[in-house]
Amino acid sequence: MSKYLVTSALPYANGAIHFGHVVGAYLPADVYVRTLRRLGEEVHFICGTDEHGVAITIGADKEGVGYPEYVARWRAEIEATFASFGIEFDLFSGTSTCPRHAEFSLEFFTRLRDGGYLEKQTSEQLHCEKCELFLADRYVLGGCPECGHESARGDECPACGSWLDPLKLVSPTCRVCGEEPERRETTHFFLDLPKLRDEAVGEWFNGKEWKPNVDAFVRQLLEDVHSRPITRDMRWGVELPSELVDGEEGKVLYVWFDAPIGYISMTAEWTAAQGDPDGWRRWWQDPETRLVHFIGKDNIPFHTLVFPSMLHGVGEDEEGRRFVLPWRVPANEFYNLEGGKFSTSEGRTIPPTEFFERYDAEVARFHLISSMPETSDSEWRWQEFQATANAGLADTIGNLVTRVLRFLDKHFDGVVPEIDEAHLERLEGLLLKECGEIGDPAAHIQEFRFRKGAEQLLANAAVANVFIDRTAPWKLRKTDPVEAASVLGACCHYLAWIAHWMTPFMPKKAQALWEMLGQAGEVAELPWPGTPTQETWRLLRPGQGFGEIAGLFDKLDDEQIQEETEKLKASAPAG
Ligand code: 2FM
Ligand code: ZN
Repeated sequence: MSKYLVTSALPYANGAIHFGHVVGAYLPADVYVRTLRRLGEEVHFICGTDEHGVAITIGADKEGVGYPEYVARWRAEIEATFASFGIEFDLFSGTSTCPRHAEFSLEFFTRLRDGGYLEKQTSEQLHCEKCELFLADRYVLGGCPECGHESARGDECPACGSWLDPLKLVSPTCRVCGEEPERRETTHFFLDLPKLRDEAVGEWFNGKEWKPNVDAFVRQLLEDVHSRPITRDMRWGVELPSELVDGEEGKVLYVWFDAPIGYISMTAEWTAAQGDPDGWRRWWQDPETRLVHFIGKDNIPFHTLVFPSMLHGVGEDEEGRRFVLPWRVPANEFYNLEGGKFSTSEGRTIPPTEFFERYDAEVARFHLISSMPETSDSEWRWQEFQATANAGLADTIGNLVTRVLRFLDKHFDGVVPEIDEAHLERLEGLLLKECGEIGDPAAHIQEFRFRKGAEQLLANAAVANVFIDRTAPWKLRKTDPVEAASVLGACCHYLAWIAHWMTPFMPKKAQALWEMLGQAGEVAELPWPGTPTQETWRLLRPGQGFGEIAGLFDKLDDEQIQEETEKLKASAPAG
């Protein structure tokens, strides 16, 4: 057994979460965590909002509200969206209110400085005279020097994901007033990434297995790595007391420096709430911990280079404790919407509240996982959602459940039938043969092959449908009711397996099926059963009465789907 520390990227508290975010860094993490827990692993799953930085100040200034009020509002909304998707973190906090966040962030700064990994540099930065502001990060817009995209931000390009230097943007403009900025000198602290790469991080990176999309991207980055400023001239952020920065005033930590430290400070908030303020060390400073960061494509450099550099660079504390470095970073690619980007501001989106009024969140979970951008960009298509709901879930799992349980209810007293000794061996052989080739969805999920895991669940239900077709209990009932009952008994056991396998993807549906099978307690609390064998395949007690039998999945009709695609077309063209 291992100890897993699972994080999902801290979303900025400055806007609604859309499906692209959900499928990128949150839903797969939730499915992963649910699976690990069922496998008996010890898991801590943490998230919260990223509440500092320019993204926040721009948004709040535009609305004319205070920063704390602004981030609190978005945090609540984001948290509610995650809850609607059934994504359950151990704690969802926020970097501006997490009690020890500033303390941890300043400790990182001090220890990196003491270790010789920070250097002070006076350099030119873009400054807007009209706004009297250094244009850090997103305060500046311009052409991406890597891919040519026209509105790249100062810190990164939303099109190619490159990490940018604002001074290299083509035709930069101030995001606030639109004026062209000038260059002006200011002093900042730079994180010596080349030194950290040469000392440890390069070797660490090379010694690990990465998803191909991460590997290629970071390998290139490592070759051409530069020191990065980690302080900013701003009023909102983790403030640097002037004695820590040689008397400089008005400096805060760069949001990307303090944000990942949020994973640590939030763990500390969580362990403190359980009465163990020091308990975070058990997660972050135990070499056995498997630290897994779920992120979207644009967060790759920070989780594979910058944060690992910080974790390494703080070194050992007085008791010889070090931070663990990430074990896996299952970064996804981009997720689009019907051939264009998701864009909440342009109305090219699927508003979660409206969506959940019309559709089942668990069907959405399953479809998102089935279409997630695991190895390359992918997209939400309404017709594909319909196909998953109808042909995928309703016709395979839903149909399997109702055809077995309703038939038993009608003709066999609504209980799990006994399997007659005379048929046991044959049925067992048939079921284990027909369904015996099945793969265990959990095995795929553990390897971050989520799509394959979802496919496997459906494939397992499909083979059970074939098993019933071949044994045809509705015909047998007339000629040999004992054999018919035995066949259906075998099917009931198999339905219990389906309920188990469904839990990481669709926990509520899994529980509903479990209860239809007359089972007490939570299926998700039971140990993961793996795949059926001769010894284990009979999960239920014969004679067990069923719960209330109801359809598990509603079908989506064509008009409904057409309405959605038309609504989308009317909102904004695919860009
Ligand atoms: O891209 C984003 O939304 C960032 N707020 C992610 C931060 S992840 C972590 F490092 F906190
Ligand atoms: Zn300006």
